[in-house]
Amino acid sequence: MKAVLGRTLNHFVLRLSATFGTTGSMQSQKAIRHHSFGKPEEVLVLETVPLLEPKAGEVRVRLLMAAINPSDRGMIGGSYGKLRELPAIAGREGVGVIDLLGAGVSGLSVGMHVRFSEKQGAWCEYACMPASEVFVVPRDVPVEQAAISFINPPTAYCLLKHVVDLEPGSWVVQNAGNSAVGLSVVQMAKAFGYKTISQVRRESLAAPLKAMGADHVVVEGSGWAKQVNDLTDGAPIRLALNSVGGDSAIDQIKALGEGGTQVTFGGMVGDLVRFPTRFLIFNDVRLVGFWWDQWSQSRGPEAVRSVMDAVYEMMREGGLRLPIERTYTFNEYSAALAHDSLPRLGKVLLRPS
Ligand SMILES: NC(=O)c1ccc[n+]([C@@H]2O[C@H](COP(=O)([O-])OP(=O)(O)OC[C@H]3O[C@@H](n4cnc5c(N)ncnc54)[C@H](OP(=O)(O)O)[C@@H]3O)[C@@H](O)[C@H]2O)c1
Repeated sequence: MKAVLGRTLNHFVLRLSATFGTTGSMQSQKAIRHHSFGKPEEVLVLETVPLLEPKAGEVRVRLLMAAINPSDRGMIGGSYGKLRELPAIAGREGVGVIDLLGAGVSGLSVGMHVRFSEKQGAWCEYACMPASEVFVVPRDVPVEQAAISFINPPTAYCLLKHVVDLEPGSWVVQNAGNSAVGLSVVQMAKAFGYKTISQVRRESLAAPLKAMGADHVVVEGSGWAKQVNDLTDGAPIRLALNSVGGDSAIDQIKALGEGGTQVTFGGMVGDLVRFPTRFLIFNDVRLVGFWWDQWSQSRGPEAVRSVMDAVYEMMREGGLRLPIERTYTFNEYSAALAHDSLPRLGKVLLRPS
């Protein structure tokens, strides 16, 4: 009880509602949390928090594997489109297994793989969640792929399918071509019959991206936009996918064909989006935005399920496979974050220690 004294009221209440084991001792679990907004490296701490039991209508889920995404940094830093109350468990994306059912839960069973609770935070060993909010993952999807299936692949799918109508043979350009979204775009575009130009920051990424189905890989700052007609044999680029901003996004606008659309869904350079005015006027280029969270909220669970079914079908058939850079335990979260900041081709994952 000593440890409770001096902690926040919030923490105190949480501890009072915790589970007590058969010996009468409180059961606990590990979580990577932050008590203020800031740089993950500075504000995250691995803490012991109470392990709760599911209430009626809830299930308890044990985390198998969680992802580190750029939006986690935004949420921890306080700049993202939605934020958790402090103190907060970090992490948005992970897959878990149901380990306990609360009273009255039907249609779900212990052992099912499900999306870990984003609402609570994914960098935590367990989460209790309402059965009605559980998203079941097919068991034949590998755990590591499932852990990174909930945000980036469906975003890539929607960017290709729900922004403009593309016909087979249409050209698409994207930056951050080696990101998880970028690699999903490359593989999905190939499956849908679209052609891709992927902007990257290292020449060495050309071979692995082409092996995954990229048509062209160009290096940022190489002046590629001036030679775009050579790359596409004169065909117009219909869609530009921008998650970087800055000069990278400006190159895309210059490369777009007349009436083309640029969709911005990320801002890795952390700069304002700027655009070359004459292309908006004389080429009728359209600039739009996309946020998967907003899309899924507004379209509802059935639309999300249908996008995710398409994602899982591609994962199952081998048409979509995202590389994993390395998996770290919760104890090694600092090393995981440092690794995530380095140039890489694949996701850095976290799993309970
Ligand atoms: N709006 C949405 O709904 C939505 C959904 C999912 C993702 N996103 C966004 O999509 C982007 C990619 O996410 P992800 O999880 O797929 O990424 P990721 O796999 O973690 O990869 C990060 C990517 O960002 C690039 N990058 C980092 N700093 C950069 C900089 N200063 N200039 C140019 N490129 C830089 C990296 O390139 P290097 O390897 O060269 O460093 C890498 O390609 C992020 O901006 C994310 O926020 C948005």
